[in-house]
Amino acid sequence: MDQIQEILNQYSILLFCYLIGSVTFIIGLKQLSHPDTARKGNLFAAAGMTIAIIATIFLYRNNHGEKLHNYLWILGGLVIGSIVGTLTAKKVQMTAMPEMVSLFNGMGGACAMLISLVEYHNDVTPPTGKLLVIVLGMIIGTISFAGSVIAWGKLNGRIKDKTIPGGQIINFIIFAAIIVFAVMVIGGFMDDGVTPYLFYSILALAAVYGILFVMPIGGADMPVVISLLNSFTGCAAAFGGFLYNNPVMLTGGILVGSAGTILTILMCKAMNRSLKNVLIGSFGGQKAGASTASKEQGSYKEISLSDTAVLMAYAQKVMIIPGYGLAVAQAQHACHELEKILEDKGVTVVYGIHPVAGRMPGHMNVLLAEADVSYDKLLEMEDANEQMSGTTVAMVLGANDVVNPAAKDDPASPIYGMPILEVEKAEHVIVNKRSMKPGYAGIENELFFKPKTSMLFGDAKKVLQDLAGELKQL
Ligand code: TAP
Repeated sequence: MDQIQEILNQYSILLFCYLIGSVTFIIGLKQLSHPDTARKGNLFAAAGMTIAIIATIFLYRNNHGEKLHNYLWILGGLVIGSIVGTLTAKKVQMTAMPEMVSLFNGMGGACAMLISLVEYHNDVTPPTGKLLVIVLGMIIGTISFAGSVIAWGKLNGRIKDKTIPGGQIINFIIFAAIIVFAVMVIGGFMDDGVTPYLFYSILALAAVYGILFVMPIGGADMPVVISLLNSFTGCAAAFGGFLYNNPVMLTGGILVGSAGTILTILMCKAMNRSLKNVLIGSFGGQKAGASTASKEQGSYKEISLSDTAVLMAYAQKVMIIPGYGLAVAQAQHACHELEKILEDKGVTVVYGIHPVAGRMPGHMNVLLAEADVSYDKLLEMEDANEQMSGTTVAMVLGANDVVNPAAKDDPASPIYGMPILEVEKAEHVIVNKRSMKPGYAGIENELFFKPKTSMLFGDAKKVLQDLAGELKQL
C-alpha cells in the first residue's frame, strides 16, 4: 500500500514538473517576441526544459511501473549533447545561424523518428491508435530530418540547388506510396511477416521524400523551408508526447509546430510570395522579372566618401537601412561606430528594419544587437516609413530588394506587392553596395537611378570604417 502511495506521490511530482515545463515554454516563447526580453525568455524556457528532463529521468515510470534504469547511457547522451550543442552555438557566426538552426531542427526530427522505431518494437499490434501515432511520428520526423540535412548542406554550400526532371511527379508517387503503406501497416491488412518490411519501407521512402522535397528549392529560400521543417519537427515531437503520455513533450511539440507554421506564413507574406511559389519556384526563375530588368534605367551618380561624410555630419537625422550585404560584410560593429560619431556631432541616428532584410527572420535585429546598437533605435518598417520624410539622409547599407520601388510601382515585377522601406521620401538617399548587381530577387532596382540617389561603392565594412575616419576629421 505504502509503495502504491509512493508511486502516486512521485507521479504527482512528475506531473507538477511537467506543468512547470509547459508554463515556462509558453512564457519563454512570449518573451522571445521582444528583443528586450528575448534572452531572458530563452533562459526561462531552457530552465523549464531542464526541470522536465531531470524529473523524467528520476520519476518517470512506464506502463509496467518500471523506472528508467540505463542511467549511464542517459548521462552519456546528455553530456555529449550538451558539449556539442554548447560549443557549436558559441562558435557559430551570425551569418551561419540558419544552417545551425537547420541542423538542430534535423536532430529533433531524427529523435522523433528514433522514438517511433523503438516503440514499434514494443508490442504494438495493429490496428491501434498507438501504431497510428508511431507511424505518423516516424514519417514526419524522417521527412524533417532528411530535409533539414539537405537544407543545412545547401546553406553552407556543400549541396548545390538541383532540379530533378519530373521531380514533382516522383515526389507525388513517393508520397502516395507512403500513405498506402502506412494504411496497410496501421490497419493490419498484411500478415505479420510482411508488415515490418512495409514499416521500414515507409521509413526509407520518407527519407527520400525529404531529400527530394528540399533539393530543388533555391538556396536563399531555405529560411522559409527551415521554418516549415521546424513546424514538422514540432508535430513529430507532439506525436511522441501522445505516445509517452508526456504533457510537456506534447506542449513543446505543439508550440514548435504552431510557431513554425506562423513564422512560415509571416515570411511568405513579407516577401509577398505564396508558400507554393517558394517550394516550387524561385524569384529569379520568374519570367516577370525580365520586364523590370530590361527597362531603360538611365544613369546613376556616385558620391565620394568625403562628400558623404559632409552630408551626414550636417544632417539632422540619418536613417540607416541595413540589408544582407551588411551581414555578409560583418559590418555591424563599424556601423555602430559610425552611429556613435554622428550622434556626438548632434545628428539623430535611427535604423529602419525591414522584416525580411537579410536571410532569416530577425537577422538585422540580432546582428545589430550583437554590436550593442540600442533597441530603441530600431524602427519597424511602418514606423520607419512614417519617419522617412523627416529624414535628411537615408543610408542604405547592403540592402537592395527591401528598398526597391518596383514592389510598389511595377505590377509586372516579381516583388510587386512586397512592402518596402520607402527611402525615396528622405531628402537624400545614399546606397552602399559593391556593384550594380541585383540582390536576392535578381532584379534591377530603379532606386539607384533616381536623381535623389547617390551610389557609394565598396565593401560595407571598409566603407563604414573609412567614413568614420572622414567624419572624425570634420
Ligand atoms: P538583397 O536584396 O539580397 O541585397 C543585398 C545587397 O547587398 C546586394 O545587392 C549586394 O550587392 C550587396 N552586398 C553584398 N555583399 C556586400 C558587401 N560586402 N558590402 C556591401 N554590399 C554588399 O538583400 P536585402 O535587401 O536585405 O533583401 C533580402 C532579400 O532576401 C529579400 O528579397 C527577401 O525576400 C529575401 N529573403 C529574406 C528572408 C528573411 S526571413 N530575411 C528569407 C528568405 C529570403 P553587390 O553584390 O553589388 O555588393
